[in-house]
Amino acid sequence: MINIAIDGPAGAGKSTIAKAVAKKLGLIYLDTGAMYRSVAYFVLKKGVSVSDEEGVGRVLKELEMDIRYEDGAQQIYVCGENATPYLREPHMSKAASDVSALPVVRYKMVELQREFAKTHDVVLDGRDIGTFVLPDANCKIFMTASPEERAQRRFKELAEKGVECTFEEVLADINKRDYNDSHRAVAPLKKAEDAVELDTTHLTADEVAEKVESIVKEKIK
Ligand code: DC
Repeated sequence: MINIAIDGPAGAGKSTIAKAVAKKLGLIYLDTGAMYRSVAYFVLKKGVSVSDEEGVGRVLKELEMDIRYEDGAQQIYVCGENATPYLREPHMSKAASDVSALPVVRYKMVELQREFAKTHDVVLDGRDIGTFVLPDANCKIFMTASPEERAQRRFKELAEKGVECTFEEVLADINKRDYNDSHRAVAPLKKAEDAVELDTTHLTADEVAEKVESIVKEKIK
């Protein structure tokens, strides 16, 4: 199986690039952030706080996660309900970051991700794919960009969707998530030693996709 790992902080453009590269190379794209977002969605729906480890552990036993592809787009069903339309709501980002720090959640998601990678040619994006989920991935890329640039991209995206917020709020959210994601005890965000680092601050999405494609082709030829 071909397994490509793209890791990096929030807003580095991983999902846009992973999607484009998967399409170009005929691979499946697995958005692992959406899996943590789905857990947050389910936990909140059950009325449990995302920082209540015991409560989360309890409801996690009821969670059935089904990842499907409809018209080529990933959809995540939780206990039969398609949670995908709710996963990008702004409060879900912080909730997903909090819930993803709980070992009980990580182990369950990592197991699903490893199983998926064993049975599919896949590009996965996340925080710990190259370091923890798939240390033997064929190709590992660590995408970064300055916090200001990432906040600017996210701010533009939210404004286009009509979400009201200020640039300062988006930047504060990015900084908080960077801190959370890189300081948790289990599988924190960090570059794998054998990952190729790609700083996208001054690159367009097309330029990044081109660079990633050539790195992937070189590694899996
Ligand atoms: O990539 P994203 O913004 O959709 O991810 C949401 C949160 O999920 C992120 O703040 C950290 C967590 N996450 C993780 O811990 N490990 C992953 N492989 C993917 C996401």
